[in-house]
Amino acid sequence: MTQSARAVICRKLNEPVVVERITVEPPNRGEVMVKLAACGVCHSDLSATNGTISMQLPLILGHEAAGEVVEVGEGAAELVPGDHVVSSFIYMCGKCRFCAMGRPVLCLDQGKALTTLPDGTLRTRDAEGRALNIFSGCGVMAEYATLSVENVVKIDRTVPLDRAALVGCAVTTGVGAVFNTARVVPGSSVVVFGCGGIGLNVVQGARIAGAGRIVAIDTLAAKLEMAKLFGATDTLLAKPGEDPVKQLKKLTGGGPDYAFECVGSGELAALAFRAIGRGGIAVVVGVAKPSDSTPVRTMSLPFEEKTLTGSYFGSCVPRLDFPRMLALYMAGRLKLDELITRRYTIEEAPQAFADLQSGRNARGVIEF
Ligand SMILES: NC(=O)c1ccc[n+]([C@@H]2O[C@H](COP(=O)([O-])OP(=O)(O)OC[C@H]3O[C@@H](n4cnc5c(N)ncnc54)[C@H](O)[C@@H]3O)[C@@H](O)[C@H]2O)c1
Ligand SMILES: [Zn+2]
Ligand SMILES: [Zn+2]
Repeated sequence: MTQSARAVICRKLNEPVVVERITVEPPNRGEVMVKLAACGVCHSDLSATNGTISMQLPLILGHEAAGEVVEVGEGAAELVPGDHVVSSFIYMCGKCRFCAMGRPVLCLDQGKALTTLPDGTLRTRDAEGRALNIFSGCGVMAEYATLSVENVVKIDRTVPLDRAALVGCAVTTGVGAVFNTARVVPGSSVVVFGCGGIGLNVVQGARIAGAGRIVAIDTLAAKLEMAKLFGATDTLLAKPGEDPVKQLKKLTGGGPDYAFECVGSGELAALAFRAIGRGGIAVVVGVAKPSDSTPVRTMSLPFEEKTLTGSYFGSCVPRLDFPRMLALYMAGRLKLDELITRRYTIEEAPQAFADLQSGRNARGVIEF
């Protein structure tokens, strides 16, 4: 059944997001309609509103949400109305060599349906009947969304939906970067640049992985306090123009084994690479402007066997990793409650984006 819903939309670059009433069409083959309960506000949503991440406008934002299935299209028999699901923002063709090797974040068709459903169509229209694009095949900062079954993961009903939503990006991206991309080993040293929703999850992933030393860096003192709560053993307040590498080398006895850039800056990625010690791995998680680049001292590659790499969506396999994250939460080992600093109504979405920009929240969550 076609639903009327409110949605958070980016109409024009560098302007505040707007809340509009839209229509969401029922699911076609291989799709489901979801009544969303909550959606986290990620820096990548903000980046789509300022052009750092280029997406077709007008765009329904949101890629970190959870809700309840209300209608199931043909050929989507694995889901029934009433199922709880979390959105997943990667495209998976299921057939290419990367999908076949269990690395769907590298699917050869990854860029194919960036702001539409996988088949290139849209189920979302504005009040004038014009089609609305959807962020990364999701567009779940809305009361309803029709999604491909490939973009939802069924979860246990016992997990509260507002917390489950965070697994749709921040948690899987951060913890996954530690578990899947870097494969942090117990007793190692880790440095995390940027302690927002993503960085705090790198911190807690490192704690769960048994890292011995976890150094958190941020420009905001409040973020460093949050990082301690998530497992940071040391904190460092970043100051403009100050190079922390010497201090980091001292704190970690020659440089950390792993450094994670969770801000989105080519310069910081270079800093992360310089900071790591011999045999170290620097992982870029932040999404920088297209014009950024990261110079590395070439000689460090052979003589120190240092690695510079990246991590997209925590190198995850959604159907494997989402339940894993939620199991860690249910076992009391992964913090989700503490990640939600503030809850917003959908009408307060512009404020939620302003608070993200100013660094006020670990994560802000819009509740529907
Ligand atoms: N790789 C992926 O799959 C993926 C997924 C989601 C988000 N991201 C990206 O990760 C980045 C972080 O996202 P988020 O939602 O956590 O953002 P956020 O805004 O919540 O957090 C960013 C943090 O970095 C801090 N910061 C800013 N400048 C800094 C500096 N020079 N040194 C140290 N800290 C600094 C801010 O104070 C803030 O706490 C963004 O670039 C986002 O687009 C990547
Ligand atoms: Zn995100
Ligand atoms: Zn594929």
